Amino acid sequence: MSQRILDFQDVDAGYGGVAVVRNLTLFVDAGEVVALIGPNGAGKTTTLMTVSGFAEVLRGTVRVLGRPLPKLRRAHLIGRWGVHHVPEQRGIFYGLTVEENLRLATRHGRVDLDRAASYFPVLESLMSRRAGLLSGGEQQMLALGRALLSEPRLLMVDEMSLGLAPIICEELLPIVRRMADETGAGVLIVEQHADLALEQADRAYLLSHGDLVFDGPASTLRDDRGFLDATYLGLGGGEESAP
Ligand SMILES: Nc1ncnc2c1ncn2[C@@H]1O[C@H](COP(=O)(O)OP(=O)(O)O)[C@@H](O)[C@H]1O
Ligand SMILES: [Mg+2]
Repeated sequence: MSQRILDFQDVDAGYGGVAVVRNLTLFVDAGEVVALIGPNGAGKTTTLMTVSGFAEVLRGTVRVLGRPLPKLRRAHLIGRWGVHHVPEQRGIFYGLTVEENLRLATRHGRVDLDRAASYFPVLESLMSRRAGLLSGGEQQMLALGRALLSEPRLLMVDEMSLGLAPIICEELLPIVRRMADETGAGVLIVEQHADLALEQADRAYLLSHGDLVFDGPASTLRDDRGFLDATYLGLGGGEESAP
């Protein structure tokens, strides 16, 4: 049986004592790619922020590698637990070079630039370029390269496709899949654009207005477009979301 990396049990989470996500039960096992999808404002980012310590656990328990998250939010500690979070803004240092960005992400003192280049060959010729001068796709590859070199047990990627051409996402998602397959990391990807994520994911969770409306094999959602579309259009129950 593969190891449980992330485990939400009946969790309410949010900000300032107000729950944004309610009654969430979710897990990610080693080597899995799990997609967390749902329309804008559903609570996807909040779920990741809860793991990183930027949003509060108001009820229930969140465990990483079996250890409950501390009550006090300590975002700076989560990296030590083997969690790497690529936020929507990618979390790279725009004024530093590609190589410097990769070196800074490395844990355990091993800087294996060749390993990053094996996953993202484009980065090899860009090592001395400042990250701010890269294209959006190259920046996202750098963000994922940083994630790879940090050797995470849990990798969380928020809206990888934001601002990128669909063809770039189609290239990047299989690489994320490869990271899970080859390193055994558990991967939780958040995507507003469900189609591409569902193609690579093993399992999926669908959030709508902070409530879980589906969890199961990604293939089930791939095959049931009607349900997916209804949820995205706000027809899946609950109040209509603001535009
Ligand atoms: N820092 C914050 N403080 C208070 N409310 C927030 C904060 N961030 C997000 N929210 C609210 O939480 C809800 C869910 O947001 P979010 O998790 O970003 O959704 P998603 O990532 O699915 O689009 C939204 O109503 C949003 O306004
Ligand atoms: Mg979001």
